[in-house]
Parts: sequence; C-alpha cells; structure tokens
Amino acid sequence: MRIPQRIDQCGANRYFIGMKVVKLGDPILRQKAIPLPEVTDETRALIREMFETMEKEDGVGLAAPQIGLGIRLFVVKADDGVERAFINPQIIETSTETSVYEEGCLSVPKNYEDVVRPARVVVQALNERGRRFTLEADGFLARVIQHENDHLDGILFIDRIAPDKRARIEAKFATTPVPEGR
Ligand code: NI
Repeated sequence: MRIPQRIDQCGANRYFIGMKVVKLGDPILRQKAIPLPEVTDETRALIREMFETMEKEDGVGLAAPQIGLGIRLFVVKADDGVERAFINPQIIETSTETSVYEEGCLSVPKNYEDVVRPARVVVQALNERGRRFTLEADGFLARVIQHENDHLDGILFIDRIAPDKRARIEAKFATTPVPEGR
C-alpha cells in the first residue's frame, strides 16, 4: 500500500506527494478491496486528494485501488461537474437496456475501447459525511460509476472487451522479464 505523504512547508502551504496512479500490471488493481470501517477526517482528506489527483490526470473517476489503497472508495466528477464520493458502494439495480461507450482508464493510459454496460444503475453508498445515499444514474454518470465500481472488485474495462484486444493491451504493459543468469 502506498500511503500519501504530506509535507508542511512553512506551516502554511501543504503539498501532497506520493499519490501516484498505479498502472496495469500492479497486483493491487486485481485485488478485491475491503469496506471502509468508518468515515473520518482522514477519509475526507484522502477524498480531497483523490479529486485533485483525478483532475490533474484529466480523469473523470478514480478508485482507491488505483492509488494503491485496497479500500472500497471511489470519486467521480462526470459531465454534470458534481464531485461525488462513493464509500462502500453497492450497485443495487441495473437496467436490461445497455449502451456502448468508448472507455479509458488512468491505470491503462492511452488505450480506449468500446465497452457495453447497462445504461442505467441505482447505486447505494456512503458519502464523505458518512451518510447513506441512493443515486439513480444514467448516461455518462452511470458509465463512470460502473467503471469505478469495477475497480473495487479488481475488474478493469479491458476485462469487458474481446479477449484478443485485451491481450494486446496487456502485452503493452507487461514488464520485460529479466533474462536468467543476469
Ligand atoms: Ni479506471
């Protein structure tokens, strides 16, 4: 796990270092994340940093495993511009109607593929205040929520495309094995 480190400079400006988005090949992206036992000030600070990291990387969603934390938390800022944090989320309903959209992922940079998903979802989660909410989403928001929720179960969008396409992308991220005897 990588815990964000903080550096206080002159006691005034706070800089954050160490929140780095992990890439395909990092085992944490394939692990099932665990629920957060409680929502604290630390959780809220983490959420704030996740939004900042997401914006810096031009993302629309970021899940905790992507920054090396195996907890069930993700943040989303979709086309409506609303910042939403989802803690211990559960997708409780999905539409039978599906939609196709070209997805990318900060952990699989520069690769984009069409992914089929339910067009609408109902999700329940805790917000950054620790309050339970239910959200019915469609369009782009529903898409981002499903993509980020997948991250909490170790699932990436490349798992939802044709196996040959997936293999091509995985090969690009495979680390070169060190030859024996060196
Ligand atoms: Ni992603």
